[in-house]
Amino acid sequence: VADEGVPLERLVRHPAEPLAEGPPRHPRVKPPPALFGTRRNSRGVEFGEAASLAALVAERDAAPPLPPAPRDATEGEAALEVARAQSAFRAWNATPVARRAAILRRAADLLEERRGAFIAAIQDEGFRTLDDALSELREAVDFCRYYAEEAERVMAPVALPGPVGESDRLTLHGRGVFLCIAPWNFPLAIFLGQVAAALVAGNAVVAKPAPQTPRIGALAIAALHDAGVPREACRLVPGGPETGAALVAHPAIAGVAFTGSTATARSIHRALAAKDGPIVPLIAETGGLNPMIVDATALPEQVTDDVLTSAFRSAGQRCSALRLLCLQEDAAERMLAMIAGACAELKLGDPRDPATHVGPLIDAAAKARIMRWLARLPPGAREIFRHPAPEPGNFLAPRIVALQRPEDLTQEVFGPVLHVVRWRADGLDGLLRSLAASGYSLTLGVQSRRAGFAARVAAAVPGGNVYVNRNMVGAVVGTQPFGGEGLSGTGPKAGGPHYLLRFVSERVVSINT
Ligand code: SER
Repeated sequence: VADEGVPLERLVRHPAEPLAEGPPRHPRVKPPPALFGTRRNSRGVEFGEAASLAALVAERDAAPPLPPAPRDATEGEAALEVARAQSAFRAWNATPVARRAAILRRAADLLEERRGAFIAAIQDEGFRTLDDALSELREAVDFCRYYAEEAERVMAPVALPGPVGESDRLTLHGRGVFLCIAPWNFPLAIFLGQVAAALVAGNAVVAKPAPQTPRIGALAIAALHDAGVPREACRLVPGGPETGAALVAHPAIAGVAFTGSTATARSIHRALAAKDGPIVPLIAETGGLNPMIVDATALPEQVTDDVLTSAFRSAGQRCSALRLLCLQEDAAERMLAMIAGACAELKLGDPRDPATHVGPLIDAAAKARIMRWLARLPPGAREIFRHPAPEPGNFLAPRIVALQRPEDLTQEVFGPVLHVVRWRADGLDGLLRSLAASGYSLTLGVQSRRAGFAARVAAAVPGGNVYVNRNMVGAVVGTQPFGGEGLSGTGPKAGGPHYLLRFVSERVVSINT
């Protein structure tokens, strides 16, 4: 993040363009793209390669309707699934890493072959826009290929230096039955990313998808089985919090990978600590209050584009999403006018329509949680902009809420609500201290044309993923390993070179030869 000495143009994704005379509401903001972001995967291949968007849509529309959702597992059924996974662990753990990696690569191929069905499922069960469904499928494919490659690198035995006449060797193994608990906001990519990592490291897996999205989980597990993962080594256990609690408490669970709320991560942590028997590691990826600090030298057009993508893409239902925009006073009015103007052009609607930018929230409970926050805003806070679209059912129109102080954002508001505070040059240190004091550390955005500003901010405010002069969402596997610390998670970063190491146990064998 050190931008000191980096030529300015290297920090600028979109070089400055002259301001047009433009309509008064939001000068020179280009209409939002029909699709946010990119459809390239981390290999730089246009997703679907030869497939045009129209062809992908046709494949999606030809997919059979989703089967009925599987029933939640009872406590007894959950225990049975753990026992089945346990019975398969030894043989799977003894399977050569190269073979396990080949199976993951085959699973990636199957995801691509079945893309119509996956896109349909992500959209129909997860209510994600076409753009989100494509990038999520791309991310899931990337996770499989990346962890396959990583397993071959990381799990290779290491010959250690030792005395003459002795052989010392370090080897890595699966830990046992890994429990993977996934969220609904990335029902394929995060679900499969956790499971793929655990499996390729040699663990058997019990996977609990979010109760809102079990059918996507079932499709993903079917692809793994079809690719060659033994059926008993990878078990799907649908259910809600009770099923999750029963699985966490099961004595045979050797590790837990969880993505979801900070509160649930805490309760899993407590439950694991209270268990007798082995000490069970927890990998948790949770939420954030994700600020973006913008100074008066930032390019308003770029800030506008990046704020829109960061705050409203996926209807703000990303743990990485921008929650608190911190604008330098001198530029705040102008930037807010542009952001509000561009936001008003976002299209809310049916997620299946390729032109839709913002779909509905996942369920009524999600909307109710946000409405409760909006109904009881902190003292002095007020809504300064609301998208004009109607809000039937689970739709929530994007909003901008002005807060008095950064501390007023006391919870992760998981939806299309952007909070804004203003700061003055003499208050920057105070602002940064307040942001650091939140205890969350997931994504951090900085927009500035001043050398040294981003480095100063990043040195003062913790952030697992720091984004300078760009948007703050859509971390790419292998390029932007993703995850936070403190209240935002335990690390390691998903899609990064150290991730698999937390899924293994190590053994050193010393032989007097
Ligand atoms: N990895 C996602 C992103 O970067 C969030 O989970 O947006």
